Amino acid sequence: MYNKIAVAGKGGTGKTSLTGLIINFLIQEGKGPILAVDADANSNLNEVLGVDIQDDLGSIREEVNWAERKGTSIPAGMTKTEYLEYKLNQVVCEGNGYDMLVMGRTQGEGCYCYVNGILKNQIQKLAGNYNHVVIDNEAGMEHISRGTVGNMDLLLLVSDYSRRSIQAVGRIKVLSEELNLKIPKMGLIVNKAPNGELSESILEEIKNQELDLIGVVPLDPTISDYDSKGIPLVDMPEDTLSKCALKDILKKLQLI
Ligand SMILES: Nc1ncnc2c1ncn2[C@@H]1O[C@H](COP(=O)(O)OP(=O)(O)OP(=O)(O)O)[C@@H](O)[C@H]1O
Ligand SMILES: [Mg+2]
Repeated sequence: MYNKIAVAGKGGTGKTSLTGLIINFLIQEGKGPILAVDADANSNLNEVLGVDIQDDLGSIREEVNWAERKGTSIPAGMTKTEYLEYKLNQVVCEGNGYDMLVMGRTQGEGCYCYVNGILKNQIQKLAGNYNHVVIDNEAGMEHISRGTVGNMDLLLLVSDYSRRSIQAVGRIKVLSEELNLKIPKMGLIVNKAPNGELSESILEEIKNQELDLIGVVPLDPTISDYDSKGIPLVDMPEDTLSKCALKDILKKLQLI
C-alpha cells in the first residue's frame, strides 16, 4: 500500500534503529524486495542491519573526480558524466532480501547539494524495481525541504519522550504542508517511552501539534545492551519489547 516510506525526526530519537527494524520485518513477512536508503551523510543504517557497506554515492563521486584529474582511469570513449552514471548504477549493495543505497559524503566540500542531487536521481530511477523503498533520514528537515526523497507515501515522524522532540516533528509536518508535498499518510511514533506509556503532558503536546499518533515504542534495555556491544538490533529476540511494539505499528499500518 505504501510504496515509499520515509522516517524523519530530531537527532538521536531512534530513526535509524526503527528504520532498520522496519526493513527487517518487511523482509521477514515476505514484503520484499526492499530498497533500503541511508540518506544520512554520517551513515549507520547498515550497522542496525548487520551488513558491510562497500561503496556509497559520495565516494563514487570522489573517485570519478579523482580519475578525471589524473586523466587515466576513465575508460576511453566515455565522458565523465557517463562514467559517473555507470559507476552509480553499480553502487547498490546487496543485503539479505534487500538492496541498500548509501548517500555517504564527499570530502573537501561543505555542501552536500551535489550528492543530494545524485541520491534523488538514484532513488527515482530505482524505486520502481522494489515493493517498498524505506528511507532513513538524517536529523532535521534537509532532505524534506530539498525534496531529496521525492514523493513519499508514508512519512513516519519519530520523536522521543520529550515535548521538544514532539514539537520538532510538528515543525516537519508543518513544513511538508507548506511545501505542499501531499504525503498521503504522516504518522507519529513516540520512541523510548518509559514502560511504553505516554504522560498527559506528552499527549497534550501531540494534540497541540495536531499529530496523528500511530504508536509508542518503549524505552528498551535490550536496544541499549545490543548497541553497547555492537550487535545488530535485527538480531534481538522476537519477543523484545521494542520489536513487539514496532510490529504492532506495522500491522496497524497494514504494512505486514
Ligand atoms: N526504544 C529504545 N530504547 C532504548 N534505546 C533506544 C531506543 N531506540 C533507540 N535507542 C538508542 O538511541 C540512540 C539513538 O538511536 P538512533 O541512532 O537510532 O537515532 P537516530 O534518530 O537515527 O539518530 P541520528 O539523528 O543521529 O541519526 C542509540 O544509542 C540507540 O541505542
Ligand atoms: Mg540515524
